[in-house]
Amino acid sequence: MKFTVLTFGCQMNVHDSDWLIRAMESRGWTAVEESEANIFIINTCSVREKPEQKVYSVLGRLAPLCKNPGDFVAVGGCVAQQIGAGFMEKFPHVRLVFGSDGISQAPAALEDLARNHDKKLVLTDFVPEYPEREGGEVSSNLDLLPPGIGTIPGQAFVNIMQGCDNFCAYCIVPYTRGRQKSRAAEAVISECRSLVMAGVREITLLGQNVNSFGMDKKGAELTFAQLLYRISEIEGLERIRFTTSHPKDIAPEVIKAFGELPNLCPSLHLPVQSGSDRILKKMGRKYDRARYLGIVDGLREACPDIALTTDIIVGFPGETDEDFEQTMDMMERVRYESSFSFKYSDRPGVAAVRMHPKVDEEVAQNRLARLQESQNRITRESLEALTGREMVVLLERPSRKQEDGGVSWRGKDPGGRVINVHFEGCAEEAKLGGKLVRVKIIEAKNHSLVGAKLGEPW
Ligand code: 5AD
Ligand code: SF4
Repeated sequence: MKFTVLTFGCQMNVHDSDWLIRAMESRGWTAVEESEANIFIINTCSVREKPEQKVYSVLGRLAPLCKNPGDFVAVGGCVAQQIGAGFMEKFPHVRLVFGSDGISQAPAALEDLARNHDKKLVLTDFVPEYPEREGGEVSSNLDLLPPGIGTIPGQAFVNIMQGCDNFCAYCIVPYTRGRQKSRAAEAVISECRSLVMAGVREITLLGQNVNSFGMDKKGAELTFAQLLYRISEIEGLERIRFTTSHPKDIAPEVIKAFGELPNLCPSLHLPVQSGSDRILKKMGRKYDRARYLGIVDGLREACPDIALTTDIIVGFPGETDEDFEQTMDMMERVRYESSFSFKYSDRPGVAAVRMHPKVDEEVAQNRLARLQESQNRITRESLEALTGREMVVLLERPSRKQEDGGVSWRGKDPGGRVINVHFEGCAEEAKLGGKLVRVKIIEAKNHSLVGAKLGEPW
């Protein structure tokens, strides 16, 4: 069967799609371009802004492509969890809907539907335990992975949990991904081990709130810090990252790990959401400015070079100019290397829908623009401060801009910064993805660095 996967949303979705592609390929299906596919899988996201409309427009576009009796569309992810069978009523070419927990059964369901053309299936039940996924084992030859699916040579993502228990007032995730369910620590560790054996050098642990790993199992599991120490021992694993972290759950042992574990990357995404204590309280974030700044100080003490990034929402209901200034002040104090910032938008069913007054659209837009301007300046300044330094870059793919007399590659330093490196006299098709190279930073651009190669890649 020829299939294609269209992915929206966060890293967890990208990772889910990668897994699904591998699982279907191991069952003999072939991942192809949209124009050649018979079966279309849409992995949806509902965290922000009109996601349903986006899915409906994709479904409209795909309708004429489902020409033969065996052609169909499967809708998965957060919007699927929300709308469920509703998709099938509006769009007859949708024959499978699977939610957050349903994905582990999706491969078998897809096969079943490809054989039985009259059948339709809805997999949106939540299950009490983390559903282990089978059949998506990483190939020992990473070159065999289908291209263009977010797979970067030498890098892999590993799910450690599913769902979230926090119910931040603006957030739909606990409703679409369900309650927190940690995966068994041994399953996580053995997946990491087999990835490293297959040639992976960098692993990113994924979950909505990785710092509360194991807490749903009431002490029966390793803590997140213990998990990090165990994974860090895997021989050949050069880099570990994790995302996302809720500030209220980051344990002192995790902060200490940044100073102790040589392969734990000096970078942390620590969503602050707002710099105003009043708004943080309304958001239900359970920390205040002082506590957040205390964590930042602790992290910088343990690991002076740590690169911090964040998520910020502007225009949360009731946010005043004064509240927003507090957020601007937070940016200056922490000096994030980069941030994702969003205008608040109502999501169905979340607590903030009933909070008032809503912030005027234009006011929110101006706040967002000011915040992003200040972030751009801080990003530029922090990148400029790195010129002259030596770094090790994990190469990902050829750079967008190429110059004559060699080939340029783009990769990341341990802090997660994008660095472009030129390889003089090197053939264009050189296979440098997944290799490490030592460089000296010679130039800072607005959002990236330029490094001069100091030795041969390994
Ligand atoms: N409105 C705007 N931004 C939101 N986010 C989550 N929910 C909303 C919402 N309703 C942002 C948060 C979160 C990121 C993934 O998306 O900043 O950290
Ligand atoms: Fe949403 Fe808050 Fe859970 Fe993050 S911690 S997924 S923002 S509810």
